[in-house]
Amino acid sequence: MFKWKEEFSVNIKSIDEQHKELFKIGNSLYEIVSIKDGVDRYDEIVEILHKLMDYAEYHFDFEEKLLEENGFPYLKQHRRQHDSFIQKVRSIDERDIDEKQKTIGMDLIIFIANWIESHILKTDMEYKEYMNDKGVY
Ligand SMILES: [Fe+2]
Ligand SMILES: [Fe+2]
Repeated sequence: MFKWKEEFSVNIKSIDEQHKELFKIGNSLYEIVSIKDGVDRYDEIVEILHKLMDYAEYHFDFEEKLLEENGFPYLKQHRRQHDSFIQKVRSIDERDIDEKQKTIGMDLIIFIANWIESHILKTDMEYKEYMNDKGVY
């Protein structure tokens, strides 16, 4: 589900590492939701979800600052995508995860995986050449 591939590389070391970490946390969320032994893992799921959101916010801030420092012209639109993602995932009612743990968990994970993947491939890719041209690797 969360597999980092070479085509995700924006050719900037710090950013690639952060993207890999996002996939890593996403994977641990996926693994926990996939266990089918009937044990209630509400607390664990919420904890990892928070960890993922916290790390995503850290990464978005880092990325936005780097783009800002280098005068990237499409920062506003980029920031808007980050913000709406955080808002959407944060707005998920935690009781929903409790009541229908597996389905809600899986739907949410698929949404997160798809969002991260397409955001990196489309939106993050848009700064790759610009930043490399600025000497940022
Ligand atoms: Fe981004
Ligand atoms: Fe990113």
